[in-house]
Amino acid sequence: MKMSRRGFMVAGAGATLALSGCGQEAKPAQAGELLRSKAKLPAPFQVPLPIPPVKKPVRSDAKADYYRVVQRKASREILPGLTTEVMGYDGLFPGPTFDVRSGRTTVVEQVNELDVSTVVHLHGGHTPAPSDGWPLDLVMPANGGHTERHVMSGGDMTMGRRTYTYPNTQRAATLWYHDHTMDYTAPQVYRGLFGLHLIRDDEEDNLPLPKDDREIPLVIADRAFDADGSFLYPAAKDGPGVEPAYMEGVIADVTLVNGAPWPVHEVDAVRYRFRILNASNARRYELAFSNGPAKFVQIGSDGGLLDLPVEHKTVVIAPAERFDVIVDFSQYRPGDEVTLVNKLDNNSNVMRFKVAHKAVDESNIPAKLSSYAVTPRPAGVVRREWRFRRGGGHSGWTINGKAFDPAVMQAQVKLDQYEIWTFVTDVHHPVHVHLAPFQVLSRGGKTKVAEFDHGWKDTVDIRPAEVVEVLVKFTAHKGKYLIHCHNLEHEDMAMMAAFETI
Ligand code: C2O
Ligand code: CU
Repeated sequence: MKMSRRGFMVAGAGATLALSGCGQEAKPAQAGELLRSKAKLPAPFQVPLPIPPVKKPVRSDAKADYYRVVQRKASREILPGLTTEVMGYDGLFPGPTFDVRSGRTTVVEQVNELDVSTVVHLHGGHTPAPSDGWPLDLVMPANGGHTERHVMSGGDMTMGRRTYTYPNTQRAATLWYHDHTMDYTAPQVYRGLFGLHLIRDDEEDNLPLPKDDREIPLVIADRAFDADGSFLYPAAKDGPGVEPAYMEGVIADVTLVNGAPWPVHEVDAVRYRFRILNASNARRYELAFSNGPAKFVQIGSDGGLLDLPVEHKTVVIAPAERFDVIVDFSQYRPGDEVTLVNKLDNNSNVMRFKVAHKAVDESNIPAKLSSYAVTPRPAGVVRREWRFRRGGGHSGWTINGKAFDPAVMQAQVKLDQYEIWTFVTDVHHPVHVHLAPFQVLSRGGKTKVAEFDHGWKDTVDIRPAEVVEVLVKFTAHKGKYLIHCHNLEHEDMAMMAAFETI
């Protein structure tokens, strides 16, 4: 099968960022081009923070819980007074949250009532290949709607629905699920096809962490809106990808948290646990509190609990990364307001917390959270290098000089053995590996764990002209998997590679 990719005749155009190989100072904080809304935007901190509803199984048996999700369009009020047509799981923006137990299987029947084909990927999942969301395992629209753009499929296509099976044989962690359709992931995630998938286990439940309504997901995503409230997205006119000016990535001027613009949330003067996900297509954030003593005590990363808590004044989070943090509001007084801002964007607003009452707090941050084996540099380990670069000529973005080709396996990786993978960049690329989490061994030649690299990761934020080494080991599942950039515009413009576990 030969992909009839759009000819990327945009090389050279839209290079909005200088590629800088020199000093730290010259490196841009953000790959992407700002897309401005035409809609009248609301004042910040007017809309209450929504919490995505937890999805209920349709039935359960001894080993598994069975769910049904309908991907459909829905009209939602995201900006007050305007409606936005979203493409959502159950019509929601973001989709419902799966809240599941480690070791119990989740079976999800996904029904596609949209008019485009879709693919679902569980990001961070240790998932058998047939359920991992290979970009050509398309779920075609149930209504037979307009499908011509995907006639080139060479995958395991299904009509109208597909059942995904997630064994959840992994530690407690904050995962998320999202669209992964070949060439069209970015616009489809942008319009709403993303949600959380939380795995819990006894180890984590036995810790005295804040819970129930003091455990809050914060799914951060930037979007731009047209005057009528619809999403603005600079899709290329004639196929996948974006207009040349946005080739570095689409960054937008409205910050949504759990689907609400610059929301506000009332808290008690106690500790809270926030599971922060950056669900933006391209934007990175450096989250900080505008005032007062609040800081972030990180307890978990993409792949679950850290061994020890790590304190941060600010948190830098790239697309698809998760930070599980505790924030203690006990040093504020009732009536105080604390704003979460993005220091990478002139301290622009993200959301606000209003401290309401003093309250009893039985939570605690244990000095030790978890333990896991770390085998830093096993002898005789297999090494591979993955170079993330802009393509020359017509090839968009590339890995090891190649645009994504689903017929080409760039590596054959043996299960159950450690490998050291080296990632090398030109501009910023958040690199994601399917199937197995990894530990960062070095960044920029330094082996001391960098501030935001602690624990088990599945996505690592690699800065311009940087080299990062990670230790990874794949287990259990043989098949075709992906490594790619999680800047979704880069991903759609071919910055993805297949490898096969054997
Ligand atoms: Cu979050 Cu391959 O993706
Ligand atoms: Cu990239």
